[in-house]
Amino acid sequence: MKRILVLNGPNLNLLGTREPTVYGSTTLADVEALCREAGGRLGVDIDCRQSNHEGQLLDWIHEAGTAHRNGQLIGAVFNAGAYTHTSVALHDAIKGTGLPVIEVHISNVHAREPFRHHSYLSPAAAGIVVGFGVDGYALAIEGLVRKGQVG
Ligand code: DQA
Repeated sequence: MKRILVLNGPNLNLLGTREPTVYGSTTLADVEALCREAGGRLGVDIDCRQSNHEGQLLDWIHEAGTAHRNGQLIGAVFNAGAYTHTSVALHDAIKGTGLPVIEVHISNVHAREPFRHHSYLSPAAAGIVVGFGVDGYALAIEGLVRKGQVG
């Protein structure tokens, strides 16, 4: 069975207690369960990972790029948290591996502070899902599967 990597970046381990008015009360474990459920419906395996460390996220993207080239991985759904707005290295990793990445944000970053309006990931992403709350992860998984099917 083909796989999708669901990657969460810094502070997303705090979901559930972190600014609930912005991010809701769903925990990261709930989000991961929601992703596995979406994968089950679509017939794909879901591999969920979270790290607060940029280098770890880079290593996982490199690994995922190899798995994608080998035909084992459809792509990744990636909420890079604040690294979205700061990380040229994550941009370069996505470009450099050719990994299809759907960028996800729980909140509508464009309706928030100006420093959240720019994303280093968006120009390298295959698609973007913003502002749908945690449902955005399931939408991104479905979008990635559908994109994979149409080539
Ligand atoms: C976020 C938005 C980012 O601006 C923020 O730094 C996060 C979460 C979101 O999911 O809405 O950590 O990516």
